Amino acid sequence: MDKTLFVANWKSHKLKDEGIHFFQELARKIEALNLESQQLVVAPPSTLLSKMREIVDEQKMPVLLAGQNVSSYPQGAYTGEINAKQLREFAEFVIIGHSERRRYLHESESDIENKIREATEAGLRVIQCVQDENGLVYTGVEYAAYEPVSAIGTGNPDDPKHVEEVFSEIHKKRPDAKLLYGGSVSADNINQYKSIQGIKGFLVGGASLDVDSFVSLLS
Ligand code: PGA
Repeated sequence: MDKTLFVANWKSHKLKDEGIHFFQELARKIEALNLESQQLVVAPPSTLLSKMREIVDEQKMPVLLAGQNVSSYPQGAYTGEINAKQLREFAEFVIIGHSERRRYLHESESDIENKIREATEAGLRVIQCVQDENGLVYTGVEYAAYEPVSAIGTGNPDDPKHVEEVFSEIHKKRPDAKLLYGGSVSADNINQYKSIQGIKGFLVGGASLDVDSFVSLLS
């Protein structure tokens, strides 16, 4: 049985001290959480990955780490890029194809395909974001996160019935993909989604920045 994934996508938030504070607080609260059937994953900005890895390992915290992006190229002369093997030194997962990267960084479908290939070859577990039921979920992707653009950061989450329909469309094409929902998930609305057929977890932005708010999403 897969554990339900709660993925904290910090996006471009937090300085080092803030990241450390989050993990210190989380370490204090973690004993009280039911982690038998639930898995925490944190995706910090890449500047913090090494420090967060150190804390998780030193304190043996049951938390997995994710990159928010990865290079579409292998090791080489690609200034500014972090390749999949480099990321794998610090993280188990990587988020690929987030709509913010498509929108602001002009990431294309072929970039996404290349990133997924690089990531899976390096042994990273991929969470691929799709914006609707037409999104292509590539080979090697373990988790497909349905995140409608209208729901991201707007306080206007998608209707659970619609999420269920989109999930079933994605499953027709990729029956093996594990499905996540993301988009304005909060403690106030998450229970409506937990009962969706086949849901394997959540990709959470705003509500993941504060420890109390993040852990309040768990059952
Ligand atoms: P949100 O972001 O929870 O702030 O809507 C989700 C995401 O973009 O992954």
